[in-house]
Amino acid sequence: MLENKFEPKIVAFCCNWCSYAGADGAGTARKNYPANVKIIKVPCSGRVNPMFILRAFARGADGVIMCGCHPGDCHYMTGNYYARRRMTLLMSMLEFMGVDKNRFRVEWVSAAEGARFAEVMNKFVADVTALGENVKLRDLRCKK
Ligand code: FES
Repeated sequence: MLENKFEPKIVAFCCNWCSYAGADGAGTARKNYPANVKIIKVPCSGRVNPMFILRAFARGADGVIMCGCHPGDCHYMTGNYYARRRMTLLMSMLEFMGVDKNRFRVEWVSAAEGARFAEVMNKFVADVTALGENVKLRDLRCKK
């Protein structure tokens, strides 16, 4: 009999200049990370509106991760500083709304850190799997 193993849906917002290149690097270096991770490429972490994160949860994501260049390395100079402030506020808002804060994570991954990208994704997927399905914020109209 087939076991019904929970497979979380993970959305990863990755900036074009560092984290997305890091994901590429993971692939080139043949570092595995789960296929549960769906990457959305953005020009910069500063482009990630907190509403994108809430929308991902509403559309069925069990975990959302935002990755950008390390502080001080943003291609647009200050984009990740703005992102960091926004996401700090969003984090406390998520807690207020009853979403486990471990379902959302911010990580800085450079283009040279392919192995770290895979490591971060493996850890995040394992943590969200342990939390189980996310039901908070889910818009039932989006359920198939
Ligand atoms: Fe990567 Fe701004 S370009 S965080």
